[in-house]
Order: sequence, then C-alpha cells, then structure tokens
Amino acid sequence: MFDRRRHRGSEIWKFSMKSMGFWAIVLMTLGLAGPSPASDVPNRREEPPNRYDWSFAGVFGRYDKAQMRRGFKVYKEVCASCHSIKMLAFRNLSEPGGPELPVADVAALAASYKVKDGPNAAGEYFERPGRPSDRFPPPFANEQAARAAFAGNYPPDMSVLAKARGYSRGFPLFLFDALPGFSYQEHGVDYIVSLMEGYADPPPETDLPAGQFYDPYMPGRRIGMPPPLADGVVAYDDGYPQTIDQYAKDVAAFLMWSAEPHLENRKKIGRGVVSFLIVFAALLYFTKRKIWANVEH
Ligand code: HEC
Repeated sequence: MFDRRRHRGSEIWKFSMKSMGFWAIVLMTLGLAGPSPASDVPNRREEPPNRYDWSFAGVFGRYDKAQMRRGFKVYKEVCASCHSIKMLAFRNLSEPGGPELPVADVAALAASYKVKDGPNAAGEYFERPGRPSDRFPPPFANEQAARAAFAGNYPPDMSVLAKARGYSRGFPLFLFDALPGFSYQEHGVDYIVSLMEGYADPPPETDLPAGQFYDPYMPGRRIGMPPPLADGVVAYDDGYPQTIDQYAKDVAAFLMWSAEPHLENRKKIGRGVVSFLIVFAALLYFTKRKIWANVEH
C-alpha cells in the first residue's frame, strides 16, 4: 500500500536539504561581506570612526540651531576655500530647520559673493553680486582646476558629503542599524570629526608621497588635504570653545543638515507612522477576536 506518511517525510527531507543549501549560501555571503582580517593590507586599513553624541541622533533627533550657525561659520571661513557646496542656496540658511539666519543677513551674505551670470543682451557672461536665490559659488572653476591645485586630489563637493561617507560595521551590527532605538545613522558625521582629529605623525615604516598626510581614519590612511583646522582659527561669539574638537563637531553637524535638511520632518513622520501602526495592530487584534468569538475553530 502507498505509505503516505513516508512519502511526506521524504518531501520534507528534500525541502530541508534545499533550504539548508540556501542558508549555507546566505551565511557564506554574509561571511564574505563582513570585515576582512586587518592583516590583509598591513597599515593601510583605516580605523573605524569614533562615535560622538549628536543632537540629531535617535528617534527624537533635532538640529541644534546654534551649532548649525557655528558650523556654517567654520565651513565659510575654512573649508569653503577648497570645498564647494553647490546644492546649497543662500536662502536655505534662513529656512526653518537649519541655521535659521535672519533674512537680511542672508541677503547681505549673498551680496558679498560674486556670482557668474549671463549671457546678457550682448551674449556675454558677467559677474554680479549674489542674491539669496543663488547657490554658493564654488572656489574652483572646475574639477580639473582643483586637482591641479592639490597634486591631483579633488576636494569633494560638500553638499551631501556627510551622507555619502559611511563604513561597513559588518555582520551582525548592520542588521541593528535600521532599528529604532539601536539605529545608527551618524556614520558620516562621526567619520568627518574623526578625520579632522585624526591627523598624526606617520608610523616609522610608512612612506608618504609629497603633499600627503597621515590620517588613520582615511581609507588608505593617507589624505591629500593639509590639516584644515587649528585651535582658535574661527572666532565664536557664543562662548563655545574655539578648539579643533568643537570646530570639527560643529562643521560636521552643519554638513549633516546640508546633506539632509528634512531630517527633522522625516523623523516626525516616522514617529507618526509607527504610532499609527501600533494602534492599528491593536485594533486589528481586537477586531479579529470579536469576529471569531462565536466561531468554532
Ligand atoms: C586647502 C584646501 C582644503 C581645505 C581648506 C579643506 N579641505 Fe577637505 N579636502 C581637500 C582635498 C584636496 C581633499 C581630497 C583629499 C584626498 O582625496 O586625498 C579633501 C577631502 C576632504 C574630505 C573627504 C575625505 C574622503 O573621505 O574622501 C573631507 C571629509 C574633508 N576634506 C573635510 C574638510 C572640512 C570639514 C574642511 C573645513 C574644516 C576642509 N575639508 C577644508 C582640501 C581642503
């Protein structure tokens, strides 16, 4: 007679063999994607960035307006001489959620820049004082001009730099990075601060080409940017310490805002959606109980 149970058993056996193969592949991929041992490339593998406290971290994160203003000052007085921030318009600085500079200050700031415009009626390009609707003019005419000035290195545009830099925390930490409570979305800013503070003398056996500096947080541990910050280079009028550490944190926070100006709104919507889902799940649960209450099952 046909033994049904046995037959079913072998189906299950086949199925589990298949799924074991699947899980083996998944685990192997995760293993390969994880960090490779440091001995692979001696002295070239970068250090993972330190973690700092940010006002905009976590589910209730918000930008600190005073920090945005200080950070903008550092960008303008130091970083802007080499790095462009092309996606930022002057008017953004007075919009809610950012540094919120007074509109009149922004107009004066814009007017202090020369912006290329044209062509005019004669078909010529000309320069005029900036308006709040203009974007920040870049310090170099083009990428080639910047590379020529820095021995082939290009100071990347800063508009979204804080979100464009991350590092792999490897399995299993990255699984937690998306969860509320554990979430970690500050890779970029932590990296920028670590990089600013990380300049050091190279270890004895390292040979640095001319124009390169040793920084263990930069991939490859060498960077073509001369240390941009020093204690006291930017004057703060709100009593905050004028140190590399403070400058680095302020400018990184400002760059986070420029990369994600709608972060506060995003988090607010996220909180609303999650609260709604919790209430909705409870409603569904009690509805299900009520509907099935008198049904044999
Ligand atoms: C003298 C010019 C100069 C100034 C001033 C300067 N940078 Fe740079 N920066 C560079 C160059 C050149 C590079 C490209 C380096 C490379 O690719 O090795 C760079 C690269 C960077 C990087 C990118 C590293 C990466 O992961 O690719 C960051 C972040 C950075 N700069 C931040 C800053 C900040 C913040 C300031 C202001 C406090 C600043 N820089 C001021 C020239 C400058």
